[in-house]
Amino acid sequence: MKTIIEPFRTKMVEAIRFTTQCEREQLLAKAGYNLFNLTSDDVVIDFLTDSGTSAMSSEQWSALMRGDESYAGCSSFYRFREVVQKIFGFPEVVPVHQGRAAERLLFGSTIKPGHIVPSNTHFDTTRANLEYLGAKAVDLPIAESREFESEYAFKGNICLDKVAELIAKHGSNAIPLGMITITNNSAGGQPVGLDNIRSYSDILHAHGIPLYIDAARFAENAWLIKQRDPKYSASTVQSIAEEMFALADGCLMSAKKDGLANMGGFIAMRNPSLACRIKDMLILTEGFPTYGGLSGRDLETIAVGLEEVLSEAYLKYREAASRYLAKGLTKLGVPIVKPPGLHAIYLDAR
Ligand SMILES: Cc1ncc(COP(=O)(O)O)c(C=O)c1O
Repeated sequence: MKTIIEPFRTKMVEAIRFTTQCEREQLLAKAGYNLFNLTSDDVVIDFLTDSGTSAMSSEQWSALMRGDESYAGCSSFYRFREVVQKIFGFPEVVPVHQGRAAERLLFGSTIKPGHIVPSNTHFDTTRANLEYLGAKAVDLPIAESREFESEYAFKGNICLDKVAELIAKHGSNAIPLGMITITNNSAGGQPVGLDNIRSYSDILHAHGIPLYIDAARFAENAWLIKQRDPKYSASTVQSIAEEMFALADGCLMSAKKDGLANMGGFIAMRNPSLACRIKDMLILTEGFPTYGGLSGRDLETIAVGLEEVLSEAYLKYREAASRYLAKGLTKLGVPIVKPPGLHAIYLDAR
């Protein structure tokens, strides 16, 4: 196997404190065996989450200095909006402080008690925001998503037959929108194929139901489409991303993932009157529409992160790092959600 090295230089380091096994056992007992109760100083390798934990690039740190903290009309917003419009293709862009704020605002403007919202798998905050409003969040993943051993390329896909059944059973008036999470984070971070997004979009649109993409890991999803669907092997990740979002009416994004930022998010959409309603609520709870809950410097770092995440050298390295971890876990007999190429991982692990 060829080693894929990091496609970046590390300029800054932060010392970590090493603990002994005995200390860790005591700390865990004191935390009630709940990892959320630990302080990060006591953690040597932190696998709690991928959210907001990435180190920023030198370009992001430079952009941060350009942050315009004017209350209204800050230039950082216009730079941020331009990047989001270019990559995602939606004219309306609403910044928010993180993904769950985007969920609350979109659902708060579209959902009524009794409504039903399908998805491949709703992320936990997405489900909670829907249920809080009295709606039913319905997960319709394909059967392969539960088969850890399956090497199916797109285990994040939504089951199209079940979507059609749901619409036939409840009628389109009960379903104000359909969601799809790319990658499907609550089901092992598995990717969704472009054909699946297209067919889902066709079914929803045939019934007048808009499609919203939960885009937290959009770049990784696009990269895995390029790797796993021969139709797209010659396409750029950016063009695959554009094709995915062209099928949707809007998207929600936690920029703490593929925005490569420590905080932030946005809602982007085509519908101007919905955007107007959302912005009214934004002013009540997040802030003026040109900053949402963010400072100008956050908007700058997200704008840079969204472009940098499309680097294919970076995405190749991300996949290689995950495979390296999968290989190590397999060697130790820890069950994992198997990716395609599992056989090679087993052989390598021996
Ligand atoms: C797919 C997905 N959607 C939404 C969210 C919520 O985003 P945030 O944590 O920024 O509120 C997350 C966070 O992990 C996520 O993975």
